[in-house]
This record gives sequence, structure tokens and C-alpha cells, in this order.
Amino acid sequence: MEDAPAVWVANAADLDEEGSRLHLQVKDRYITLLRHKNFLYCFDSVCFHAGGPLGVGDIEEVANHACIKCPWHNYLITLETGEKLYQGVQMKDGKMVPGKWQSVGQKQRTHVVVERADGIFVQLKQDGKVESDEYAFKRECAQMMIA
Ligand code: FES
Repeated sequence: MEDAPAVWVANAADLDEEGSRLHLQVKDRYITLLRHKNFLYCFDSVCFHAGGPLGVGDIEEVANHACIKCPWHNYLITLETGEKLYQGVQMKDGKMVPGKWQSVGQKQRTHVVVERADGIFVQLKQDGKVESDEYAFKRECAQMMIA
């Protein structure tokens, strides 16, 4: 499926502060916009794993990736690509110790955000299948983030 055309979602002032967030419904899909380190990110609000409120999770820097941490089961999702990261283990001196961070691939769909003088626009990505598509339209999952 082709990506949808970009749509206006907010005024620039609505997301100009570090850490500011908006949870919106665009074309029936629940999305979160979030400013982190002067970048605007957009992703499906509801967690791919079990429908948790990913959009309200804390932000953590993990292996040089800005990630959002799901409040339900602590999965870490990169803001830029929607990949789920996990930390492997390795043996050291006969003991298992934390190893390298790795990706299991994209699990959460991310969308394109464009900031212009006349506002912030989002282009919903619709290519292929991403696991978060399963929950992206479910109001019962998004209602704790949507006013
Ligand atoms: Fe399980 Fe998000 S619902 S990690």
C-alpha cells in the first residue's frame, strides 16, 4: 500500500519544548509525536507486544539509540526506526554477564514527520506489515493516552 499523503497535525508551538508529546488519532490510527534532543519522532502509540501504552513510556539512551521504554513489560523501542532492542548475554570468567545490545528488527511502525512554518505534518507509513499494525486502530488500547 502507498504511504498516505502528509496531513497537518499540530502547530509548531505545540511541540517546541524538549520532551513534549502529543497523542493523536490520524486516519483512525493512534500515533504519538515526541520531541527528543530537538528531533521530532512519530510512531504508533500502542505497543506491538500486548497493546500497552508505549506512547507514555520513558525515554532512554541505549547503545547510542534514543529509545522509548514500554511501561508494561519494559521493551525498548528505538524512536527512529521502531526496532526492538534487547541485551544479549556472554560468558566472562565462568559467569554470565550482560553482552551487546542487539535488534530483533522493526516491531513498532514509525511515521514521517515534517516541520514547516505552517505547522507539523505527518505522513503515515503503510508499506508492508509491521507488528504494531495489530493494535494501531484499537481505541480500547489507546484510550489511556488519548484525552
Ligand atoms: Fe509488553 Fe509493551 S505491552 S512491552
